[in-house]
Amino acid sequence: MKGMDQKDARHRISLACDHAGFEMKQAVLAFLKEHGYTVFDRGCEGTESVDYPAYAHLVCGDLQKGLADLGILICGTGIGMSIAANKHKGIRAALCDNEFCAEMTRRHNDANVLCLGARVTDVPTALKLVEIFISTSFEHGRHEKRVAMLNALENGFFS
Ligand code: RB5
Repeated sequence: MKGMDQKDARHRISLACDHAGFEMKQAVLAFLKEHGYTVFDRGCEGTESVDYPAYAHLVCGDLQKGLADLGILICGTGIGMSIAANKHKGIRAALCDNEFCAEMTRRHNDANVLCLGARVTDVPTALKLVEIFISTSFEHGRHEKRVAMLNALENGFFS
């Protein structure tokens, strides 16, 4: 498993879900702990209906405060979580359902939050995407300018 057992600086993971993502979140939590990562479990705590924006906000807050290096958010489709997360300054959330995107969004977009859809992606696939996401590094180079432009968009640069 590329990178999973060789700790780099990105070892603190903030994790949350809504009711639809609860079972997958528990599997991701166990997987990350098993591999020695520091995990902040920000809920939810069961399958009773909750509102995904509140949980996206908790994880994004951990990144913004520098408490976590990467975030993982899980809802039914992953879409609500990604919309909510991307409204936070400094957050580049990527909804992924395949290995190629999980790798490329780290390499090219320097994505800092992985969003998963528990009603779209099965648990073994999700764990593979998590593994790839947290063990892949940003490529820098030509992608730095583009990420800087994403940051500029947050500050009204293009308005
Ligand atoms: C909950 O039913 C569902 O709407 C939520 O998990 C998510 O898929 C929203 O985007």
